[in-house]
Amino acid sequence: MTHRLPALAPSILSADYARMAEQVGQVLEPEGSGWLHCDIMDGHFVPNISFGPDMVESVRRSAPDAFLDVHLMIERPDEWITRFTLAGADLVSVHVEADRHLHRTLTAIRAAGAMCGVALNPGTALGAIEPVLHLADLVVVMGVNPGFGGQSFIRESLERMAALRALRRERGYDFLIQLDGGATLDNAAEIARHGADVIVAGSALFRAQDPAKAASAFRTLLQSVADGAQTA
Ligand code: DX5
Ligand code: ZN
Repeated sequence: MTHRLPALAPSILSADYARMAEQVGQVLEPEGSGWLHCDIMDGHFVPNISFGPDMVESVRRSAPDAFLDVHLMIERPDEWITRFTLAGADLVSVHVEADRHLHRTLTAIRAAGAMCGVALNPGTALGAIEPVLHLADLVVVMGVNPGFGGQSFIRESLERMAALRALRRERGYDFLIQLDGGATLDNAAEIARHGADVIVAGSALFRAQDPAKAASAFRTLLQSVADGAQTA
């Protein structure tokens, strides 16, 4: 995974599922690479149902060079790891609130050949993931209560990311920080400056008139934040 950071991770949750391949092509980098965020919802852990491993497999086929980031918002995520890694996931994130054996699950994701992420809801204390931070490749800080695209950003998430970044520096860890939910072109620079290495955006891309244009505007903005950080 050699993408520039901060990176954009388009979430296909808000795409038109009848035109998925076309929509995916619109928001990836021109050469078909880049992150793609797949939101898996089971109607139990979150009050919505999205799609499952078959969709991930189809997306994998239509975007062979994308980095497939699978966000499991499901109960018993441990039972689904193999299905999603076989479907083509490069990274699988599970929620700390959904898994009683987080340490075992993260280890199992790695053993299945994918990178592992741990996600936490806005109402969950950062301390809940501290014991597994050394295992994680990515931490998903939710910017909304998970379940739906198009919700408003919860601003307290900014301070949570900054605290997580400070903890990473202090302990010498190397996980990426991902902000998921509520990102728009108006708040993306602020989100990046507070520590997001990867910003998920769903409705801001797919509900825009031109998703390709919106994705490219996001990437230009994130590049300017990165350039600013280098000269600061
Ligand atoms: C929320 C999902 C997000 C969602 C983001 O439950 O985990 O990934 O797709 O959508 P927006 O960008 O519209 O908030
Ligand atoms: Zn997500």
